[in-house]
Amino acid sequence: MPSLQEKNPHLRPLDPRKDLTGVADLIDICFDFHMDEDGREYVRQIRQVAQSQNSLLGMSQNLGSGGVPMQGFVWEVDGKLVGNLTIIPFLRSGRWHFLIANVATNPSYRRQGIARKLTQTALKHIREHNGSMAWLQVREDNPGAYELYSSLGFKEVARRTTYRALPRNYKSLPAGSSIYLTRRHSKDWPIQKAWLQAIYPPEIAWHLPFQIKDFEPGFWNSLRQFIEDEPIRQWSARRGERLLGVASLETNLGNTDNLWLALPQDIEEDALFALLTTARLEGSSVRTISVNFPTGVAERCFQSAGYEKHLTLIWMNQSIDQGQSSFRTDKTA
Ligand SMILES: CC(C)(COP(=O)(O)OP(=O)(O)OC[C@H]1O[C@@H](n2cnc3c(N)ncnc32)[C@H](O)[C@@H]1OP(=O)(O)O)[C@@H](O)C(=O)NCCC(=O)NCCS
Repeated sequence: MPSLQEKNPHLRPLDPRKDLTGVADLIDICFDFHMDEDGREYVRQIRQVAQSQNSLLGMSQNLGSGGVPMQGFVWEVDGKLVGNLTIIPFLRSGRWHFLIANVATNPSYRRQGIARKLTQTALKHIREHNGSMAWLQVREDNPGAYELYSSLGFKEVARRTTYRALPRNYKSLPAGSSIYLTRRHSKDWPIQKAWLQAIYPPEIAWHLPFQIKDFEPGFWNSLRQFIEDEPIRQWSARRGERLLGVASLETNLGNTDNLWLALPQDIEEDALFALLTTARLEGSSVRTISVNFPTGVAERCFQSAGYEKHLTLIWMNQSIDQGQSSFRTDKTA
């Protein structure tokens, strides 16, 4: 059987010992327009690892460091990387799943089938490594990439919007509302847990910094949070005795805190508004609050509470049939 490179001399597996600077350059060129602070930090990390590889010690310490591309495929023309794709394997319920990320083609080489060929090669790699599922995320405002992935067999699983409340424009609770807030009570937990599981189901939660058990009331969680200095503050919204929602504000090491919302399917927007504004008023005055929520649900309520739409991502996946190829076309540059 001809090797990958014999079949296509431009396409080869990523070599993290020499390709990382080229990958960082490509991500910079291709994602610059949309890149936020987290994205820039990610590219900085890749460059840092690339630089430290000049020393043997640095290389042994850094290979495998979280997030930096270690597996994937590149497209090379005259020694320059013009296409890239990263593969991140992870275990879920004892089976191998793979996230495909950083798919990028240099603007001068687009619409020649490079991203298609990279993605097809990644799917083949996943199949050959006993993967049971391939995942990826694509921005809602990127229909070209969505079309590419759909044509290769990926199906939409969910659409999630991240809202951000910047540390300004404080809103206060509406006067005269019959909703009131308390700290989260232990007895709220069973309902809170069920609501959290509905809003952050497993197919979403695995890729978020979200651990449902962290919100459970009890001595050990309080002690752990105290020791790790990562407090979680939780508020419950009620009308009379009735619980209407719970918000959990989790402090992170970076500049952004995460707010996780537990709400019933028939959301009372006044309760959501009260939770969103309380998190802003009682949270840090210098940090950003980020909320991940199903797209299109209560959007106006987020906006009126001072939370701006930051990003909508479409999650796509395809199960990998170990028996056969799912490729429909084989157009290459
Ligand atoms: C999206 C991207 C990777 C596509 O790379 P590419 O090498 O040009 O893609 P391909 O030539 O393999 O395109 C394959 C198919 O995808 C679709 N497609 C790709 N770009 C498209 C565009 N701009 N508009 C519409 N459809 C597009 C088409 O169906 C295309 O098939 P066709 O050319 O036969 O019509 C590239 O535009 C890019 O790097 N964009 C910036 C980074 C990015 O958004 N990455 C995706 C992250 S999820």
